[in-house]
Amino acid sequence: MTETIARYPKALVVIHWVTAAAVLGAWATAEGGREVVQNPPLLHFTLGIAVLALVLPRLVLRLMGGGAQPDHRSRALTVVAEAAHGLLYGLLIALPITGWYVASQMGVQVQLLGLHLPALTAPIQGRPGAIAEFHESAGSIILLLAGLHALAALWHQFVLRDGTLRRMSLR
Ligand code: HEM
Ligand code: HEM
Repeated sequence: MTETIARYPKALVVIHWVTAAAVLGAWATAEGGREVVQNPPLLHFTLGIAVLALVLPRLVLRLMGGGAQPDHRSRALTVVAEAAHGLLYGLLIALPITGWYVASQMGVQVQLLGLHLPALTAPIQGRPGAIAEFHESAGSIILLLAGLHALAALWHQFVLRDGTLRRMSLR
């Protein structure tokens, strides 16, 4: 049975799906090591910075009360879902900032549609260290987490049939 459910505001729905596509695109266009210095992956930078730019309006929409009502059927699962969403938000902020920082460490200028962004730190000699490793691992972790999150949404939609997907749809 499909219940009447609270939906996310349309602006947040658009941001959710554009962000999901940008994260996937950033992951698919990622390069590592020397290739980044010789031939900077500008599409990777642009998609990643777009993710960062969309987080702020998204958080404002949430703080203005734009979140849908949580499912109170299981308190434990609500906590898990909220923790996963919190972690996804953390990665949506940490990934682009660490990527930008690492590019600066490598002496690579970050360009966004022809616009030059300032360096976040001075260039260093040799390989960038722990922050680069964090960025690379977090880039895969966000994809894994988003995949589990999508499976959970599909489980709600097609097994529990509670209309969860409609909360994040425009129609
Ligand atoms: C990188 C990809 C993704 C990220 C970072 C992401 C992130 C999020 C976050 C943070 C929320 C909480 C609401 C908000 O503040 O926007 C959310 C909700 C939601 N997401 Fe995703 N998502 C991704 C991909 C997907 C995919 C592929 C699906 C569907 C198959 C999906 C379905 C949903 C649904 C249905 C909700 C509403 C859940 C509810 O509160 O009932 N998401 N997502
Ligand atoms: C959601 C956004 C992002 C995701 C999912 C992501 C993902 C990744 C992944 C998986 C790698 C490793 C590639 C490999 O080693 O083959 C990588 C590397 C890199 N990314 Fe990102 N990234 C994002 C945003 C950004 C942004 C915004 C920038 C810069 C403005 C950036 C700059 C870099 C740099 C410089 C490297 C190379 C690091 C090294 O070789 O040590 N990334 N990214």
